[in-house]
Amino acid sequence: MMKHVFKKGADESKRVLLMLHGTGGTEQDLLPIASMIDSQASVLSVRGNVLENGMPRFFRRLQEGIFDIEDLEFRTKELHEFLNEAAEKYEFDRQHVVAIGYSNGANIAGSLLFHYEQSLKGALLFHPMVPRRGISLPSLANVPVFIGAGDNDPICLPEETSELTSLLQDAGASVKVHWESFGHQLTRSEIEAAKEWYEKTL
Ligand code: MLT
Repeated sequence: MMKHVFKKGADESKRVLLMLHGTGGTEQDLLPIASMIDSQASVLSVRGNVLENGMPRFFRRLQEGIFDIEDLEFRTKELHEFLNEAAEKYEFDRQHVVAIGYSNGANIAGSLLFHYEQSLKGALLFHPMVPRRGISLPSLANVPVFIGAGDNDPICLPEETSELTSLLQDAGASVKVHWESFGHQLTRSEIEAAKEWYEKTL
């Protein structure tokens, strides 16, 4: 099991929002964003199992932007299996999990898409990077992905956003990229754009 909070949504909503925080965050951080995007959905908010100088993350990195691929694979599998267990425990439909991640949390969500078919119904990735290169992706047909990116993001460079977009599209995903003229921070207007997209798409 991973440390998490689960909140059951309105009975008529099948959606489960999987909230994945950035480096140094906790399972509490993105709860307000979950209710801004869909106040009716169930919410499963998870804490990353890795610590970097006391800061929770979802997988190890060797340095800024250089991921520990072995750990990334291990942690991606751990999260994927946790979703299967949580679906049984909380009795939600495993096919309706939509990930919403910021920064390191967006990267593990991206890694779920890169490694497992039908792990996610869709994903909202705020400031993601390419989680890994040189593997063939599973089919992402009918998986919609929203990417929030910043023109001046020093961590997720615009070229990397384009590379991620192409990799996802080549696997069949439909991708919407929303640009802001800011850096790595998560902005309110980006969340509003994500909400509008979510309401139209999911
Ligand atoms: C990562 O390590 O996943 C990215 O560099 C984003 C972050 O700083 O967490």
